[in-house]
Amino acid sequence: MATQTTQPASFDVASTAGVDLDHFWMPFTNNRYFKDNPRLLVAAEGMYYTSSDGRRLLDSTSGLWCVNAGHGRAAIGAAVAEAVGTLDFAPTFQLGHPLPFRLASELAKIMPAGLDRVFFTNSGSESADTALKMALAYHHARGDQTRFRLIGRQRGYHGTNFGGLSVGGLGGNRRRFVSQVWGVDHLSHTQGQAVRFQRGLQPGNGALADELEDLIALHGAETIAAVIVEPMAGSAGVLVPPQGYLQRLREITRKHGILLIFDEVITGFGRLGAATGAELFGVTPDIITLAKGLTNATVPMGAVVASREVHDAIVEGSPEGIEFYHGYTYSGHPVAAAAGLATLQIYREEGLFARAGAMAAKWEEAVHSLADCPHVVDIRNLGLVAGIELAPRDGTPGARATEVFQKAFDRGLLIRATGDIIALSPPLIISGDQIDEIVGTLRTLLKDLA
Ligand SMILES: Cc1ncc(COP(=O)(O)O)c(C=O)c1O
Repeated sequence: MATQTTQPASFDVASTAGVDLDHFWMPFTNNRYFKDNPRLLVAAEGMYYTSSDGRRLLDSTSGLWCVNAGHGRAAIGAAVAEAVGTLDFAPTFQLGHPLPFRLASELAKIMPAGLDRVFFTNSGSESADTALKMALAYHHARGDQTRFRLIGRQRGYHGTNFGGLSVGGLGGNRRRFVSQVWGVDHLSHTQGQAVRFQRGLQPGNGALADELEDLIALHGAETIAAVIVEPMAGSAGVLVPPQGYLQRLREITRKHGILLIFDEVITGFGRLGAATGAELFGVTPDIITLAKGLTNATVPMGAVVASREVHDAIVEGSPEGIEFYHGYTYSGHPVAAAAGLATLQIYREEGLFARAGAMAAKWEEAVHSLADCPHVVDIRNLGLVAGIELAPRDGTPGARATEVFQKAFDRGLLIRATGDIIALSPPLIISGDQIDEIVGTLRTLLKDLA
């Protein structure tokens, strides 16, 4: 029987004609403001977006910390098209297809030695919750069933699902959602005694991490399952840890049989000039969470990479049958996995992680040149990330950075404002001239800002 063919629909991606803004309830957005003052992006290529009024915008935020290889990579598009045309979907519950196996093998090659078992998710939030459940399952499988507590960090961000929300430390994200995961505690954030305008890592000797010993004394190590931190906190406004801090967290967690999870949703895939923050800092956690740059953001996908020990404890230590009662319909989706494989190939062939590392010195110099601009109270940087903190206006915290965001947009520069911090994280393909352009535009805007 002949297959019926349907004419492909044309969605006219770049046209705003007939677009009704009412129905899409936008995430993490001031919906009322946006819908009165819409800013729409309609195309992207390389380092640039195109806005609906036809202007080019230099992307200094990699979309949302995720388009690490730059926009519109043809090889990723081709891999996606091939996957869609060959195998649009296949379940991975008690069945499989080759692509996620291939992607897991490729990912394992760039993870720290010993972390080579990969569980796929669809986002950073799902990765965080998966990692926390993995930690609980690990202790359970070992008969350590009193270990239920999860320790996060103030100002940490691990997405918006209940697990990540609970260990996260951003008050605004948590306060309205009273019901959270029970038995969670938090370490202090790393900005307490921070030296302002510090280039790269904060000075230190790891002593801040000794706070974990206090929590252990309070709760008992035998009740603590895992500690989760971002190697460098991104979403809270770029908080760079002190030297020795992550090493010390590793020593303490290991001593007490507590799992250490690095949330590398932002720091993964070259953002800090290495494949992972773990590699940069020379600290190997038990579990790493990933998303964003995994597919260059072309198709949603996340991953949780576990040590052989964590994996084997759960898989070998469980009774016959399903070992880990967890997963998503789209875990290892063929289209996402194809995008992931093409993305990793680009990172490898173009040496983008090393490139980011090589550009970091120029980046640091350029962003710190803004130190004498009006309103700037701190500048922090690591790899191809920078946080420029502005003094808040009296009574309207966040308003000053939001105004910079809006004015930058109007001048052809996309930045990110979180509170009164301007967070920058450009694609790893950025040129020296583009770095100068970002900093030059910001300098002009800050000079004229009330
Ligand atoms: C460290 C970290 N974890 C988790 C997430 C959540 O990722 P997603 O928005 O894909 O759920 C983010 C997002 O920015 C993040 O920065």
